[in-house]
Amino acid sequence: MCGIFAYLNYLTPKSRLEVLDLLVTGLKRLEYRGYDSTGVAIDSPDSKNIVMVKRTGKVKVLEDAIKEHFSGGEYSEPVMTHIGIAHTRWATHGVPCERNSHPHRSDEGNGFVVVHNGIITNYNDVKTFLAKRGYEFESDTDTEVFAKLVHHLWKTHPTYSFRELVEQAILQVEGAFAIAVKSKHFPGECVASRRSSPLLVAIKTKSRLATDHIPILYGKVLPRSDSTSEFMPEEKEVEYFFASDASAVIEHTNRVIYLEDDDVAAVRDGTLSIHRLKKSLDDPHAREITTLKMEIQQIMKGNYDYFMQKEIFEQPDSVVNTMRGRVRFDGNAIVLGGIKDYIPEIKRCRRLMLIGCGTSYHSAVATRQLLEELTELPVIVELASDFLDRNTPIFRDDVCFFISQSGETADTLMALRYCKQRGALIVGITNTVGSSICRESHCGVHINAGPEIGVASTKAYTSQFISLVMFALVMSEDRLSLQQRRLEILQALSNLADQIRKVLKLDSKVQELAKDLYQHKSLLIMGRGYNFATCLEGALKVKELTYMHSEGIMAGELKHGPLALVDDSMPVLMIVLRDPVYVKCMNALQQVTSRKGCPVIICEEGDEETKAFSSRHLEIPRTVDCLQGILTVIPMQLLSYHIAVLRGCDVDCPRNLAKSVTVE
Ligand code: AGP
Repeated sequence: MCGIFAYLNYLTPKSRLEVLDLLVTGLKRLEYRGYDSTGVAIDSPDSKNIVMVKRTGKVKVLEDAIKEHFSGGEYSEPVMTHIGIAHTRWATHGVPCERNSHPHRSDEGNGFVVVHNGIITNYNDVKTFLAKRGYEFESDTDTEVFAKLVHHLWKTHPTYSFRELVEQAILQVEGAFAIAVKSKHFPGECVASRRSSPLLVAIKTKSRLATDHIPILYGKVLPRSDSTSEFMPEEKEVEYFFASDASAVIEHTNRVIYLEDDDVAAVRDGTLSIHRLKKSLDDPHAREITTLKMEIQQIMKGNYDYFMQKEIFEQPDSVVNTMRGRVRFDGNAIVLGGIKDYIPEIKRCRRLMLIGCGTSYHSAVATRQLLEELTELPVIVELASDFLDRNTPIFRDDVCFFISQSGETADTLMALRYCKQRGALIVGITNTVGSSICRESHCGVHINAGPEIGVASTKAYTSQFISLVMFALVMSEDRLSLQQRRLEILQALSNLADQIRKVLKLDSKVQELAKDLYQHKSLLIMGRGYNFATCLEGALKVKELTYMHSEGIMAGELKHGPLALVDDSMPVLMIVLRDPVYVKCMNALQQVTSRKGCPVIICEEGDEETKAFSSRHLEIPRTVDCLQGILTVIPMQLLSYHIAVLRGCDVDCPRNLAKSVTVE
């Protein structure tokens, strides 16, 4: 939900054209966060003004506009110190258009310009306050009030530093934000802050940094003379990057600081300081500089046409990475380092709650039955948004799992805070190191799927699924009666990567099937038991990517309503595997075919009896019942991908969506 990128070079000469290039590349890495309009702000050639370029549409449109707008000459002169800010937007307040694109400015002279991710909930009050003081607004956004508020504070408090101005402004705003501010009144300086929206600062120096942390300054006044409280690199030349996530900076540096809520990070004279107005007892003295483990190749498309396609085909490796160092197939042992100290407490709990949104919620649906079986505890699965709407009762002896690929989904994060306040143990299942959910959980499992850039979640789903299966196996380690079942699952896990490779070979067959289906208006996906989650997830993928209507239907519910939809023209896909619910699935299949339905069947390899019910089928390898969902979801991912391509949809950036939903 909006991507922020800012770049500051201090005593490292760069031309404005090079800076623009860096900003555009940074935005391209963040495009998955929102892609309906974009913008950049840099210094004018005489450094006395700020120049902005904004466009409706994707980063490519901005890139072309920049090429047209700035060519050679003074823009290719190197500048020793400069700050540029950039933004890619997912509209919340005001339609996507240039007027509503960021950066937003404080006044006609572009005194202060701001990029923002999140929602300022009290923006109307601030707007009224500023309007009474003569400010006129030119956009429909909440962000613009922030730029104007900083300007108002600057006029009323002329002695304040840039950092103090931004700090005073964030005290007045409510809601969620990550912001980066640039000012022509404070050249070469950048101030950034966050509350409930992610933001990191990355540092690039020629030699390795001698320190692993940056002290935090507390209190009202920043003592400029107390330089030991700030980060000054050993050598003077330094580059700083402010970004919504690490994928935007990894090609420049792997040294980052994840900012915490209400941190104000400011760079002045090449020195970075992190400041907080108040100090509470458990506040740390410093922010750690983290070394990213991510590789640049992980965020490139390689030979694939789309990130989503690449991520689908990465699954044989990503599932292994999720298990790596955790599952010992020779000794049938599993250790989940991030939660092992909490296992005794979890075993004493009243119930397990699995909470998430979208695909992450589906991974909870997919593993609920196995968790019930192996933990012998009640397992409750909740959509984060609905959970909050209901004021759900939570007890101190509840264990609440928060499942989120990004670790930043606002509904999931709010639900986490709600449960934490009520004393429950919080377990995070995320794919993003340093994310809010990671940091606010008591313990957790990192799913290690690698960066997922396509807006549609694919490999994160299968890795979330496996993480929850591993947790179930850990919980049942000392249950004699469950050992046979555990062995069967461990055996199946060891074969999973090869079986996924086999399923991926169905790609061309799925593509043919997509040709039959892509012009239809609707697709019903039916199954039950361990495969119901695949129906929900498959339908979500179809909706999200192809804009076709699709519904995941519990096959047991067919005769209670959905059967009325079935006729000889309604496209239907049914999952019928040889598991404990096979006979019931066959009943559903017969109900469909006797209404002239002609379903596509996903069945087990060589299952002639089931195949006989239709001319169109996809055969998948046999695995243990509780892992079938991993193999059945892959044809659904491929099918939605191919239908989207055939319908001319933007696979990686579906309309109206963003990868990370950081607003409620
Ligand atoms: C999946 O394809 C979607 N893009 C979406 O449902 C997503 O899973 C949901 O928004 C939750 O995101 P999270 O896993 O990052 O919390």
